Amino acid sequence: ARITLRQLLDHAAEHGYGVPAFNINNMEQGLAIMEAAKACDAPVIIQASRGARSYANDIMLARMMEALTEIHPAIPLCIHQDHGNNEATCLSAIRHGFTSVMMDGSLMADAKTPASYDYNVAITERVTRMAHWVGASVEGELGVLGSLETGQGEAEDGHGAEGALSHDQLLTDPDQAVDFVTATQVDALAIACGTSHGAYKFTRKPDGDILAMQVIEAIHEKLPNTHLVMHGSSSVPQELQDIINRYGGEMPQTFGVPVEEIERGIRYGVRKVNIDTDCRMAMAGQFRRVATENPREFDPRKFLKPAMDALRDLCRDRFERFGTASNA
Ligand code: G3H
Ligand code: 13P
Ligand code: ZN
Repeated sequence: ARITLRQLLDHAAEHGYGVPAFNINNMEQGLAIMEAAKACDAPVIIQASRGARSYANDIMLARMMEALTEIHPAIPLCIHQDHGNNEATCLSAIRHGFTSVMMDGSLMADAKTPASYDYNVAITERVTRMAHWVGASVEGELGVLGSLETGQGEAEDGHGAEGALSHDQLLTDPDQAVDFVTATQVDALAIACGTSHGAYKFTRKPDGDILAMQVIEAIHEKLPNTHLVMHGSSSVPQELQDIINRYGGEMPQTFGVPVEEIERGIRYGVRKVNIDTDCRMAMAGQFRRVATENPREFDPRKFLKPAMDALRDLCRDRFERFGTASNA
């Protein structure tokens, strides 16, 4: 059944677990994620970026979400707009059946330029008021995602924002978070703690200097009843890097967010955990393996089925480790 982010995260908070939010662009990802949710008896958040919406077509995506709900009626499913950049993106998502939207006012509508605090409050408050009128939930973001190693801020499209950012911009300020949640009335708050989107988050296994989990603890202390969201939460597992590279890939060594750090976040109010890169890597590794092992193969299903299986297994692991399993 389709439910809102608010309903889903209230239950997660009450029972002390986290919910992965997996990005999708196509049918195979939708089927694999739901199969994992079914196997684990877990509620799930499926999210679509603006890029996903233009890739798959809004009508196709909406019908796919409807089909996934019909195939798995017992699984609570939240359909979420990832990184909405303005009012129009958020409202059109709701019109297409999304039960939740992210209004990312940490960046301007170009999704590249860091926004002022006042801009962020004003646009997020406006979207929240409108979304709540029609029963949809809203996630806001305070702080800019980006690397504490390089000071490189991050645009939603993965290309760096202009210039280096200060630690003040890259780490959410707990007092400002209190003010932001009060002013905007968001249902969930995305915070910045040194993570970034994509595979190249850290050049070494992260410690507290470059992955500031302590900031999450400080925010949770001031806002114990606010559902926190971690973006850029792919773990970029070594096994997935190895599979890709064993079959002709050339990914340079990199490090993501260790699952145990996410588990720590979940103990301090993190309820929604955004994962896209790990899903892409799980599938891409299988595309490469099939292409290498079976160079005569050209039936797309022979590539897509193992890719779906790998994605399903990854999702199952996260449902289990985040405590989402057995909560549908
Ligand atoms: O926010 C980033 C997500 O990984 C979505 O990426 O904009 O390439 O669809 P995308
Ligand atoms: P990853 O690139 O770490 O998977 O992050 C995804 C994300 O934050 C989507 O909003
Ligand atoms: Zn994100």
